[in-house]
Amino acid sequence: SSFTNSTSSISTHLTRRGYGTESVPERKVAVLGAAGGIGQPLALLMKLNPLVSRLALYDIAGTPGVAADISHINSRSEVAGYMGEEQLGQALEGSDVVIIPAGVPRKPGMTRDDLFNINAGIVKSLCTAISKYCPNALVNMISNPVNSTVPIAAEVFKKAGTYDEKKLFGVTTLDVVRAKTFYAGKGKIPVADVNVPVVGGHAGITILPLFSQATPKSNLSDEEIVALTKRTQDGGTEVVEAKAGKGSATLSMAYAGAIFADACLKGLNGVSDVVECSFVQSSITELPFFASKVKLGKNGVEEVLGLGHLSDYERQGLELLIPELKASIEKGVKFANQN
Ligand code: NAD
Ligand code: LMR
Repeated sequence: SSFTNSTSSISTHLTRRGYGTESVPERKVAVLGAAGGIGQPLALLMKLNPLVSRLALYDIAGTPGVAADISHINSRSEVAGYMGEEQLGQALEGSDVVIIPAGVPRKPGMTRDDLFNINAGIVKSLCTAISKYCPNALVNMISNPVNSTVPIAAEVFKKAGTYDEKKLFGVTTLDVVRAKTFYAGKGKIPVADVNVPVVGGHAGITILPLFSQATPKSNLSDEEIVALTKRTQDGGTEVVEAKAGKGSATLSMAYAGAIFADACLKGLNGVSDVVECSFVQSSITELPFFASKVKLGKNGVEEVLGLGHLSDYERQGLELLIPELKASIEKGVKFANQN
């Protein structure tokens, strides 16, 4: 073969992902909050993704060091660090995907909504810059409370005249990652084969794993399903308590964020049948935003998939979560329009 090692490993990778050709499109990914607990391992994982050609690492502090460090890895993407608001425009310009893990994490005893007062403003200012410098990028919102930060982003983009509902995603992949892990453990099933949709939102009871649709099937009891559901809903709190004041999930979140960004890139590149759960603008329930399975394509959301058949327990969970999720969405919309 006339390929160099790295070219042939990229094309092998892409063939596995359903490409018919060796051409790999140029793709720029920006990470905002790149020097943080999630940002650093997420930057590392994006540096390892052969679909990325340029990686922009932005934070208010610390990015020159993170960028210098990661840039020595011999993978495809060129890495650059940007620090401080005056470099935000440069970081964003030309981005295809912007991943946002900027903001404060929880400490024990806090809810995700307790982060609203600080993170709402951070998200609002970052999204204002996105609407100016890369209005066509797919935005992957990780900053909590996701149930409110996604509506804030939508309102900011609407005001700027750049809103495209196909391009805004609340990242709920960690809920799916947890549901898969816990289900496989309980059912004694090889985890690599497991799939579990998780719908609703990303906080407490708004997180609704649909274990009745989990594959492969297992014959778990109703009590076991209830326990798995609660563990998935409380997964974030489990980590917050174990870290005892040192923050929330960072490594598993970086993994989940990398999976979701990779799905977005594959969609942009025209790979077929890319489906991930995400919190998006939606008309599958009465709520304006809702997490469910989403098909990703060349323009972002190609199709928001319906909920499918729910068990009685899941239907009950769905009814219970609607008021809380509705209030969190409205809180975000109100903030964006008042400030
Ligand atoms: P962290 O404090 O370790 O890192 C946050 C980073 O954001 C810091 O480096 C900080 O400098 C940076 N930052 C603050 N203001 C900024 C601004 N205006 N512009 C750019 N960067 C800014 O926190 P973390 O553990 O990485 O968590 C980040 C956020 O992700 C939190 O809100 C947390 O709740 C959320 N989170 C979400 C999920 C999810 O499933 N969606 C999972 C875990 C954590
Ligand atoms: C998580 O689910 O781990 C994140 O939302 C962080 C948190 O505060 O729980």
